[in-house]
Amino acid sequence: MERAGIILAAGEGKRMKSARPKVMHLIGGRPMLGHVIAAMRGAGIARVIVVRSENADSVADYAASLGVESVLQVPQLGTGHAAGCAAAALRGFSGRLLINNGDMPLITEATLNAAFRAAERTGLAMVAFRAAEPGAYGRVLIDSDGYVDRIVEAKDATENVRASNLCNAGTFVADAKAFFGWTAKLKNNNAQNEFYLTDIPALARQEGVRCAVVEAEETEVIGVNTCVELAAAEARFQNRIRAKALESGARMTAPDTVYFSFDTQLEADVQVGASVVFGPGVSVRSGAEIRAFSHLEGCVVEQGAVVGPFARLRPGAAIGENARIGNFVEVKNSRIEKGAKANHLTYLGDASVGAGANIGAGTITCNYDGVQKHLTAIGPRAFIGSNACLVAPISVGEGAFVGAGSVLTRDVEPESLAVARPERKDVKGWAKRFRERRRGQKAEKET
Ligand code: UD1
Ligand code: CA
Repeated sequence: MERAGIILAAGEGKRMKSARPKVMHLIGGRPMLGHVIAAMRGAGIARVIVVRSENADSVADYAASLGVESVLQVPQLGTGHAAGCAAAALRGFSGRLLINNGDMPLITEATLNAAFRAAERTGLAMVAFRAAEPGAYGRVLIDSDGYVDRIVEAKDATENVRASNLCNAGTFVADAKAFFGWTAKLKNNNAQNEFYLTDIPALARQEGVRCAVVEAEETEVIGVNTCVELAAAEARFQNRIRAKALESGARMTAPDTVYFSFDTQLEADVQVGASVVFGPGVSVRSGAEIRAFSHLEGCVVEQGAVVGPFARLRPGAAIGENARIGNFVEVKNSRIEKGAKANHLTYLGDASVGAGANIGAGTITCNYDGVQKHLTAIGPRAFIGSNACLVAPISVGEGAFVGAGSVLTRDVEPESLAVARPERKDVKGWAKRFRERRRGQKAEKET
């Protein structure tokens, strides 16, 4: 049966105390909404509709960037009302519908698939979990046949019901046609005067449709409502992705101190030191080493390259095979070819560095004139002496030398030497004469 999905993302997210829409807060460098969309896509849901609020353009723009449409919920009258707002967009769709909260970033495609399978029996299913601290989650009450009797929101629950730890995760699967029939019949006579999605199992039951339950691990269904829960979800996400990296053959000295993004790609046989941070868009190829305290984003590190300790690779950095990027070196939008080295204290921005080139300590590509960025091209085997400033646009030819301390504003020809620094002057015996003069002056004053 064809699958479609609705993501509920119009809530005010007040508890986050943030101007940013809740679902746009990041887990592993990606908005929570993106995690939910990815899990849905993974479960074979081709058509996804995001329900958003009026002042959440960033949600609409982000969804659109992933090829996902969004519809408005105005005003926000609860999760059941929100799901109903997708009815018009899904008119004519008669397959299976998955409805998912937008604030559960750790949900997996496996659990979504399990929910679809469970719905095959009766046409309705939900995901529940045993919560360590059930707190504000809705409680799921099960009948003697193992189907849902009803869901009771914490705010509407008696003490007895609150004692139950089987909780609603926020994932439902239903036949689309029947589902929108139910959302239209929801009532808001409850503690929050909202139209609850969670009333649907009881409503369906009155019509003879029973709701099956799939139990998931709490670690993959936690809801994020506060910054505390966001941090907890991030921690779980990091644990999951670290385990995956280790399983696929990346070695880490201290995995608990390494931070990944959702899309970090480490090939087998990569070595990662302690306290390394991977921002979005990083690929590290087999045999490369990322040493301690390095920060990488939007970059590729080829086989056998060594980066760090204390290196910073920014978007567009491409570190070639066996190249070396050492401590306090920053690389942005630059290609460092095979075997080239920048071992200490250097900024390479908007540059190309040819194979086997050596960049001395303190070298700076002066790429920005306050208005525009300019390119620096350093040829293969070139040798840039320490503390050189290469004022871009500029090129240093193949095999050329740049003298230490030079400030260069014009191109350097291949195989030549460019030195641009004030000429040295030596004055013999000057220091001794100077000291004697000063001592004499001091003695005169004191007498
Ligand atoms: C909801 C469930 C609760 C469940 C918990 C799981 C309801 C009534 N309660 O509670 O049973 O245990 O999730 O995390 O469904 N939203 C809208 N429009 C609205 C209200 C909410 O789109 O009018 C969206 C929110 O953006 C959010 C999701 O629906 O992504 C859930 O809303 P939230 O307010 O977080 O519900 P909870 O109180 O967490
Ligand atoms: Ca929530």
